[in-house]
Amino acid sequence: MKNVNFLVLLHLKVRLRDVLIKMLGEMGIDTIGTNISKIIRSDDPIQKMAVYLACKKGNICVSNKKLKYSFDLNGRLIKAVPKAYFGKCDNTILTSEEFLKAVEKLEFPYIAIDCSFFNLHSEREKKSLFVQIRETLNIVRKFMWDGRLIVTYKCGIGKYYPSVADFVKENNLKKIILLDPNAEGIFDGKKADCYIIGGIVDKSGNKKGLTTRIGEILQREGIKFESKKIVLKGDISGVPDRLNAITEIILRVVLDGEEIEDAIRKVQSPIFARRRLAKELPKLAIRVSVKSKTFRLVCKDDFKKFDWLNLRKEDFYKVCQQTGHIVVSREVMEEIQKCRWDAIKRRYVLALK
Ligand SMILES: C[S@@+](CC[C@H](N)C(=O)[O-])C[C@H]1O[C@@H](n2cnc3c(N)ncnc32)[C@H](O)[C@@H]1O
Repeated sequence: MKNVNFLVLLHLKVRLRDVLIKMLGEMGIDTIGTNISKIIRSDDPIQKMAVYLACKKGNICVSNKKLKYSFDLNGRLIKAVPKAYFGKCDNTILTSEEFLKAVEKLEFPYIAIDCSFFNLHSEREKKSLFVQIRETLNIVRKFMWDGRLIVTYKCGIGKYYPSVADFVKENNLKKIILLDPNAEGIFDGKKADCYIIGGIVDKSGNKKGLTTRIGEILQREGIKFESKKIVLKGDISGVPDRLNAITEIILRVVLDGEEIEDAIRKVQSPIFARRRLAKELPKLAIRVSVKSKTFRLVCKDDFKKFDWLNLRKEDFYKVCQQTGHIVVSREVMEEIQKCRWDAIKRRYVLALK
């Protein structure tokens, strides 16, 4: 392997593929090919190749001249014999061990899923937890590689440790953040060696506060950490709470350099957007009383005020209907506001007389 200048990457916000692109570039390689169909069909082939490389599923070798197609370093498929080949091969120019040794030195964080309260879950919740852990691995693979996911439940996904405390101590990690929706502190995108997420699914029973209890266990084990909640305009409402969604928000912020609220919106499913809208509507609504009945009105154009939510127009109308808000046009709203203003003025003039 040619000597590569990793210092340039050390403090940058990068995904694993960016490291591979830099290494290939420094070796003068601008096209790479493979026979692995999962890589060829992937929507991010260079990232997929980098994950395979880090997971020891192949090496980078001198080109296989038989290939007619290759990827350029932007991941575009082009008709050209590649300069290098990825797969099981002997004439290596970059082995998976060399790549792994190099990326381990960079600031890729660990995502640790703490399953201390696994037994409090129903069978249905355990299944959902398993699905979420698998989806979390898929997210981790979009940014880093399998070795960055730690799971304290033996389910064959990620790297197993009996407890997060064991993992932190064994790897001598210093900067730890526990993602806790009940924390005082707000996550501001701070980099950490490890982000801990509670392996908790809230479908039945009352599991409120369990993440804080994970923190208490860590404290008893002598682990120093910060507890942070992810908020959207000051509130956790609307922040998706699935483990894979929390992981994606964190990685988009710390590796891609996205703003937290942009990352939340990109990951937010319409159900979370609707939940938050339901909380926001009463703040906007105008109350109108007609014959002792009160109506809450919102303006059609108010939809535009929620561009910070991943909201479709039909979601807006649906939530208005479900929460008993009547949607009116801007003209009607202005008329009503004018009438109210006239009524106030009349009352004021009467009071002065
Ligand atoms: C479904 S939540 C469980 C929350 C649990 N009921 C509680 O009150 O602690 C699963 C995990 O996602 C993470 N999480 C969910 N929403 C979060 C938020 N807004 N901020 C920080 N972490 C969050 C936490 O790590 C949490 O343990």
